[in-house]
Amino acid sequence: MPLIDLTVETFSRRHVPEMLDWFADVGAVVQWGGPGLSFPLKVAHLEAMLAETETAEPARWMFAGLASSKLAGHAQVALDWQNGVGRLSRVAINSQVRGRGLAKPFLREVVDRFFTNPAFERLELNVYTFNEAAIRTYHNLGFREEGVRRSSVKVGDTRWDTAIYGLLRSEWAASSD
Ligand SMILES: CC(C)(COP(=O)(O)OP(=O)(O)OC[C@H]1O[C@@H](n2cnc3c(N)ncnc32)[C@H](O)[C@@H]1OP(=O)(O)O)[C@@H](O)C(=O)NCCC(=O)NCCS
Repeated sequence: MPLIDLTVETFSRRHVPEMLDWFADVGAVVQWGGPGLSFPLKVAHLEAMLAETETAEPARWMFAGLASSKLAGHAQVALDWQNGVGRLSRVAINSQVRGRGLAKPFLREVVDRFFTNPAFERLELNVYTFNEAAIRTYHNLGFREEGVRRSSVKVGDTRWDTAIYGLLRSEWAASSD
């Protein structure tokens, strides 16, 4: 059990200032958000993501995890409504409270909310293969590894491998029994 209680709510503009110093360098930004982002994380980056939550059929949901009213977790789900597929992405626990077991309960709530919508059958994600804390968390939630895109991302002079994980509605329902 985590030592800190976390509540989950929709990520909104009021949370943005608290997140801007979460990532120390470009590697940390890319590890969190993928190769399309630059360092430092700016208000405009988060504003562009928030704009995708506000369309009639949102392209993205964004979640905040709060501990003692402070922003402790962030996660997003990119939504493919046509195929009933979501992509869990941009998961982070504030470095000040990492290593305390918050990731699993935070993401369990996010996954529960995702599958509450009957439009969705599959939740998938990409994770760099060196990211042991993230991979343990996804395994513990029931995600299965489906393959590795070797040497798929370039960060400075280094290349990273990306593992693909997936979780089906039926698997989530079975694990929640
Ligand atoms: C990935 C992340 C969300 C995990 O949250 P966390 O608070 O660090 O991890 P937790 O304390 O909840 O632990 C989760 C699991 O990872 C393990 N773990 C934690 N830190 C670890 C580390 N440095 N190395 C290996 N395993 C680790 C824990 O033991 C636990 O597994 P267990 O329950 O089987 O024992 C967090 O490290 C983070 O925000 N990282 C930076 C952003 C990022 O990489 N996001 C993921 C993008 S795919």
